[in-house]
Amino acid sequence: MYISELGELWHRSRVAPDIVHLDSAAASRSSDAVIAEVTAHLWRESARGAYVAAEQTSERLDRARRDLAAMIGHQPGGIAFRESALSALRALLTYWNMPLSATVWVCPTEYGPNLDQFERRGYSVHAMPSTDGTGRVNTDALENMLQFEQPDFIHVCHIGSHSGIVQPAAKIVELAHRAGVAVVVDAAQAIGQVDCATGADIVYGTSRKWLAGPRGVGFISVRDDSLHPVEIESSEAFIAGRIGFGTAVQELQSYGLERVRRELAAIGEYTRTRLDGVGSWEVVEPVDEPSAITTLAPPPGWQDSDVAAAREALRSRGILVTCGDAWRAPLAGERSVLRISPHLDVEDTHLDDLARELLSMGW
Ligand SMILES: Cc1ncc(COP(=O)(O)O)c(C=O)c1O
Repeated sequence: MYISELGELWHRSRVAPDIVHLDSAAASRSSDAVIAEVTAHLWRESARGAYVAAEQTSERLDRARRDLAAMIGHQPGGIAFRESALSALRALLTYWNMPLSATVWVCPTEYGPNLDQFERRGYSVHAMPSTDGTGRVNTDALENMLQFEQPDFIHVCHIGSHSGIVQPAAKIVELAHRAGVAVVVDAAQAIGQVDCATGADIVYGTSRKWLAGPRGVGFISVRDDSLHPVEIESSEAFIAGRIGFGTAVQELQSYGLERVRRELAAIGEYTRTRLDGVGSWEVVEPVDEPSAITTLAPPPGWQDSDVAAAREALRSRGILVTCGDAWRAPLAGERSVLRISPHLDVEDTHLDDLARELLSMGW
């Protein structure tokens, strides 16, 4: 039985998986329509010449920019396509006018490779305060801090890679703007899952996760003219992928973006309720956290290598999840977790299968 009312539709619009796919936070499964659009463009490139084919499909890319910008609350002219979220961040840090030793405040759940980018440029990085043990930013404490000190910018990893905690991005933006501080949002795990129209100055993300678009396509969206998006868009690109990305966004819109977000949150709640305590694995997020990402901390005495081995064992038994290694959120702790991230087509039996395997793994 599908957990979501949209499950049947989602299932019917793509090939049946060979495995139990609970790994959308890594990459979702694209629909038949997305794959058809990507391949159709590749055929057009071959039949007409790649540059001619690109010119002839420019209105599709314009539509993709419009749809994406609407999800973020920006203007279509502010969108630039890149290859991935990280490549969008790199481009931003290259072209944005930042002082040499900028100060950036980040969430305690910040994605490790983003921190590497800041550190490589000599930025001074500070974690914003969190008081509830989950890494969620405490906005009262932040408001207080901003009265005394202002960083050059705040970087919000809206949902991280190591837990399903949703940061209060809109509230952070409101407080930061009141203090005259710009906000950049990493929406790689957020777009499609939660409302990304937060008022942030710059938002970037990727196609292949919760939007279920193709791999190799990312984006950056700029709210005003502090940066010219055309400067940062890669000119040589996987145009077919960008078209497929636009198709994926349109599909999601046809389901109703708000409805998809609600259903994904309900899937997260169902998953956490079903798996908490099974085989002594413990759910990390509050049960009603509004995201479809669930992370499980291992039974007492387990090492990180045991979690990695559990992920491999599950894979060999046909269940795809991620080992959430500590490098994904180095400010949040040093433990690996098992990350479960189903999309709309998850069935209760998939989670039963996972629960059974977790129960059988005593080592
Ligand atoms: C929170 C977060 N930010 C950024 C990224 C990087 O995305 P990409 O692999 O598209 O560069 C990821 C990838 O998993 C992520 O989870």
